[in-house]
Amino acid sequence: MAATIKIFIIVLFLGLISQGYGQSCSLNDLYVSVAKAGSFIQGKPEWEVTIVNNCMCKQENVKLNCSGFQTVDIIDPSVLNISGNVCLVNSGKPITSNDPFTFKYAWYYLFQLTPINSTVVCA
Ligand SMILES: *[C@@H]1O[C@H](CO)[C@@H](O)[C@H](O)[C@H]1NC(C)=O
Ligand SMILES: *[C@@H]1O[C@H](CO)[C@@H](O)[C@H](O)[C@H]1NC(C)=O
Ligand SMILES: *[C@@H]1O[C@H](CO)[C@@H](O)[C@H](O)[C@H]1NC(C)=O
Repeated sequence: MAATIKIFIIVLFLGLISQGYGQSCSLNDLYVSVAKAGSFIQGKPEWEVTIVNNCMCKQENVKLNCSGFQTVDIIDPSVLNISGNVCLVNSGKPITSNDPFTFKYAWYYLFQLTPINSTVVCA
């Protein structure tokens, strides 16, 4: 029993170390959620997009698949640089685990913006 617990703790510890050193950090650690912001612009609901980085390492040059994306609420290109089907987030600056990145848009419906590229930077 004690041995099982010891192994469990070691495995947990190794897990934390590898997380900290980025071996298990990837694009899959970025989560994008979209929720109604509650207001309307030109009759279209406003939506708040939140990007959470669930990895202890920073992720920069985060790009989203913006295929079909539209908004009547003009977004500052330093926040979201829309270029064809690809959107660069935060001018390529890092998104850290303790600081979710958010922006708003306004359109008839929710867009599911999926992360397609990022660079993992472990300090
Ligand atoms: C982006 O999304 C569109 C529509 O869902 C899809 O057809 C396309 O393959 C995606 N592109 C990438 C690079 O994931
Ligand atoms: C947005 O992207 C375009 C094309 O990639 C680039 O020329 C422009 O400098 C970018 N603007 C910002 C604010 O990042
Ligand atoms: C991400 O972008 C880099 C640099 O442009 C490229 O080398 C890499 O293949 C891209 N990764 C994916 C998953 O598209």
